[in-house]
Amino acid sequence: MKKISILAIVGSLRKNSYNRQLALAAKELIGEQADFELLEYQDIPLMNQDIEYPAPEAVKRVRDAVKSADGIWFFTPEYNHFFPGVLKNLIDWLSRPISKQERQVLSGKPTAISGISPAMAGTSLAQDHLVTLISFLNMDVMNAPRLTIPNAMQQVDNQGKLALKESYPYLEKQADAFIRFIQSRIQDK
Ligand code: FNR
Repeated sequence: MKKISILAIVGSLRKNSYNRQLALAAKELIGEQADFELLEYQDIPLMNQDIEYPAPEAVKRVRDAVKSADGIWFFTPEYNHFFPGVLKNLIDWLSRPISKQERQVLSGKPTAISGISPAMAGTSLAQDHLVTLISFLNMDVMNAPRLTIPNAMQQVDNQGKLALKESYPYLEKQADAFIRFIQSRIQDK
């Protein structure tokens, strides 16, 4: 079986984002089992139909990255009981058809969701909203297991570095499950 590819989309643009660090921990954990890349999308403009066609270069780049990935893994913070606007903006761009011939790139993509927060709910409300959106876009969501990590500060050292302790086995479980989920979808094709 070919090596699968996973594209991680982090819902925070913050340099030292805990969610970005969680994505990097997943990358390290997965190692050689899959190709694992983080999508950089800071240069995506705000969605504006006046500039939609032809698509801006940055939009073309992220669409190509999503299109060629076997699976998409979201790592999202929670902002005001929702997922951040930067992530909604990115998904709005990705949700649009590329051309009359080609449909949007998210449809049918195997997808996993994780998130970490300093608060008690551990991003679960943000994740629920994200599931509503990506289900509407016909993504193939792995609803179990999802990973919600609360009380982030208990697993962050005084340099702001995430050192997963009790949550590590759950990340491991989710990574294994997601790899199997993607492989089963490839076999079904
Ligand atoms: C937050 N934060 C937050 N946390 C949470 O658990 N529930 C929430 O509703 C909110 N709301 C919220 C709104 C806004 C505008 C900001 C900037 C922050 C705190 C948030 O979880 C915290 O800043 C995380 O560290 C953000 O994730 P990254 O950037 O570390 O990945």
